[in-house]
Amino acid sequence: MNHRPLDFTQTSIFPLLEAEARKALSRHLREWKEEDRTLVSDRFLFDFSTTHLTGALAGYFAEALEELDFDRRRHAMFVGEPVNVTENRPALHTAWRMDPSDYLVPLPSEVVEYVIRMRDQVKRLSDRFRSGEWKGATGKPLRRIVNIGIGGSHLGPEAVIRALENENSFPVTFLSNVDGRHTADVLSAIDPETTLFVVVSKSFGTLETLTNAHTTIEFLKNKLGHSGLERHVVAVTAAPGRIAEAGIPASHVLPLSEWTGGRFSLWSVAGISIPLALGFETFDRLLEGAREADKEFYYTPSAFNIAVVWAMVHLLYRHFGGASTEAYVPYRQRLALIKDHFQQLFMESLGKSVRLDGTLADYPVGSVIWGGPGTNAQHSFFQFLHQAPEVVPVYFLGTVKDDHPYPHHDKLLIANLLAQREALAYGKPQTGAFDYFPGNRPSVTLLFDRLDAYHLGYLLALAEHKVFTESVFWGINPFDQPGVELGKILAKRIARQLEEVSAKEENKILKFVRKNLKD
Ligand code: F6P
Repeated sequence: MNHRPLDFTQTSIFPLLEAEARKALSRHLREWKEEDRTLVSDRFLFDFSTTHLTGALAGYFAEALEELDFDRRRHAMFVGEPVNVTENRPALHTAWRMDPSDYLVPLPSEVVEYVIRMRDQVKRLSDRFRSGEWKGATGKPLRRIVNIGIGGSHLGPEAVIRALENENSFPVTFLSNVDGRHTADVLSAIDPETTLFVVVSKSFGTLETLTNAHTTIEFLKNKLGHSGLERHVVAVTAAPGRIAEAGIPASHVLPLSEWTGGRFSLWSVAGISIPLALGFETFDRLLEGAREADKEFYYTPSAFNIAVVWAMVHLLYRHFGGASTEAYVPYRQRLALIKDHFQQLFMESLGKSVRLDGTLADYPVGSVIWGGPGTNAQHSFFQFLHQAPEVVPVYFLGTVKDDHPYPHHDKLLIANLLAQREALAYGKPQTGAFDYFPGNRPSVTLLFDRLDAYHLGYLLALAEHKVFTESVFWGINPFDQPGVELGKILAKRIARQLEEVSAKEENKILKFVRKNLKD
């Protein structure tokens, strides 16, 4: 039986792939200046003309994916096989955006029934909230949301809401950190009588969320008394049995499936703050865009598949170009938080050394994701991107238009994006020692015509599929996060230690903290 490769370095095509990558990287991007390498759908453009990913190289990467059984593994994820192998669970975030009348793939009937039931419940709750029908303990309509959650129970929903909120939206505040000042700032800025608190925690075991939820319930009891609290709380969790022990009224508990990963959960009931804030119709458009991305990812041949090519570019510079970080630069202020969501989605999924067979990878895996919105980034870290010795691949995200009364601003915004892309790639001839613009600095441009729910959903779903593709290249499980467990255990032990009057041996840090906690 032929030994199936575990990762792309073990594929038989790898020597040709490596030779082509080295050859391509030895050339300057100026040599391809006249060559368009762009994947365009009707209102979305993915341009990788300013990268060293040649057609031949894309072909070799595609062959490596074939040897890695990519098509079957992609299908396995979509149909709900336990692709999250270390937790023996499916990863069915795609089920949340499926169209029951037009299946992409056959899904287990219990999954379809659950998703339809949950969507109906979320629609009913958001309609009741937005119509003013949902009254609080003192009879006033609830008009604001506080989302209590962290990581995937915070970042995706907030990134979407900040990108799409408008004059018809309801205000949402996100309470995530366990920092008491953050908690106090949030609670002091809201009117408890008209606020709905959404506690989102898949495990219902996350210290920050449980602490913030408990403090919030006590705050509500002080302000509103003990009756009617249940009207102000919705809980979303895969552990409904833990609600009561956390002192949370179990009025509205939306069960979250175990097969929904936290950082992949904004489409699910865990993203309920999105329809509450923006309306179910907008949420549905977000799902529709994601569904389009699912279809394209599922059916498009690798060399023309945006999510797959996005992964190829990452591997080219990570494995052969020595680039250990990638900068995401959204040229829209409202897309600023996309970088934070991508940071968790990419780094918590791909920041792994242990491969699917339990052995340690002897090659780079994953990248540090950083960045910030353009044009502001041009006045903070673009000096580094243009002239530091280290090359950082840049991913520009942008929209040509947006709804506001100042279209001339947008021409300047997009001109700056295209100028930075050109300067990084092609540089300029040197006229003096410090006039050093070597160029040959790669970037990818993801551009949609306008900032709307459909295109945002399309982009965010593509990013999830890029992560999945990279996990196949690298032979790792992108759907678990064992690396966060040790910190959680140690934090609980140290918190107990700090409660003690004194301790036997302790280092200077603990001594300093204990002394100042008491003062
Ligand atoms: O960071 C670890 C993690 O488990 C994330 O994967 C998750 O999104 C976050 O913590 C919050 O977890 P929960 O939704 O279980 O509170």
